Amino acid sequence: MASSWLFRLLCCLFAMTASTTAADVADKCGQPNATRIILWSIMRSGSSALSRSFLQRSDTKVLFEPFVSVYYLGPEREHPRHTDLPADPQYTYEKMWDQLLNPPGGESVSFAKDFAVTLPRRWWRSKEMAEVKHSFLIRHPEPAMTSMLRACKDPESTGYSYFNETEMGYSELVAMFEYVTKELHQVPPVIDHDDLMKQPEAVLRSFLGHLGLDFDERMLHWTAPLPPHPEIWAGFFENANRSTGFKPTRVERKSTEAPAEIADAIARAMPAYSLLASHRLQM
Ligand SMILES: *[C@@H]1O[C@H](CO)[C@@H](O)[C@H](O)[C@H]1NC(C)=O
Ligand SMILES: *[C@@H]1O[C@H](CO)[C@@H](O)[C@H](O)[C@H]1NC(C)=O
Ligand SMILES: *[C@@H]1O[C@H](CO)[C@@H](O)[C@H](O)[C@H]1NC(C)=O
Repeated sequence: MASSWLFRLLCCLFAMTASTTAADVADKCGQPNATRIILWSIMRSGSSALSRSFLQRSDTKVLFEPFVSVYYLGPEREHPRHTDLPADPQYTYEKMWDQLLNPPGGESVSFAKDFAVTLPRRWWRSKEMAEVKHSFLIRHPEPAMTSMLRACKDPESTGYSYFNETEMGYSELVAMFEYVTKELHQVPPVIDHDDLMKQPEAVLRSFLGHLGLDFDERMLHWTAPLPPHPEIWAGFFENANRSTGFKPTRVERKSTEAPAEIADAIARAMPAYSLLASHRLQM
């Protein structure tokens, strides 16, 4: 024990003198070298593209919407949307947390992207929540809700046959942000879809820096496909699964206004969006 302690101390001193990376120093200095990250977002925010970017890292296990599967398809599900489908016992909150905290491949980094609305409040107070680093991805409600409404008009491909404002997740995302900052005392990085698409490298460098990770050039152009996901939602991921990088062109707002049927929902989401946007990383 004592000799391994001495070895660590020497490595630590060496890491600090040799100009290695921040992650190296943290590693050698005996801090836990495992980085467990959750990215909380709203629906239609570009979070699948960011997942593909993380899939490019050789040190990282990516969990793709673990809580979504539980929330809609697991035996504990509370959401009415897919109750016509049989519950699948493989999807439980407990199993999903375990995969995030103890990735089976032993990866030093694990990254889960999910929606705050899919994790019931009783889990927010869990010890697991305190063990991970939280981060946030936001997007202006007008393009996000317009995209969701479009998806809801194509139920054969997306599995969604009606628009549900609460499910977009703006109010739960703000509540999660407040929980993480006030109760868990973290200062989570918040990034905005538009900034990420416009300046992917600068945003990624800053975001990763806040999470104690080094930037990896390979995160800008991807080839690894998204992990398999329940077939009913395939239509939601076609674009992200076909993409090869972040797309600055997707930022330009169309001149046509959002459909009238979601105008009120967009207006109601604005305060939540603005609050989170005021905390976003500035480039
Ligand atoms: C921490 O790093 C050591 C040595 O590089 C490795 O053997 C171990 O698996 C890592 N721990 C985790 C949880 O990744
Ligand atoms: C709408 O979404 C909210 C949040 O996910 C959920 O609690 C509610 O049951 C949903 N209602 C319907 C009809 O889908
Ligand atoms: C992405 O595409 C791969 C095949 O290239 C497929 O196996 C995977 O299920 C797809 N993922 C999603 C989420 O659609």
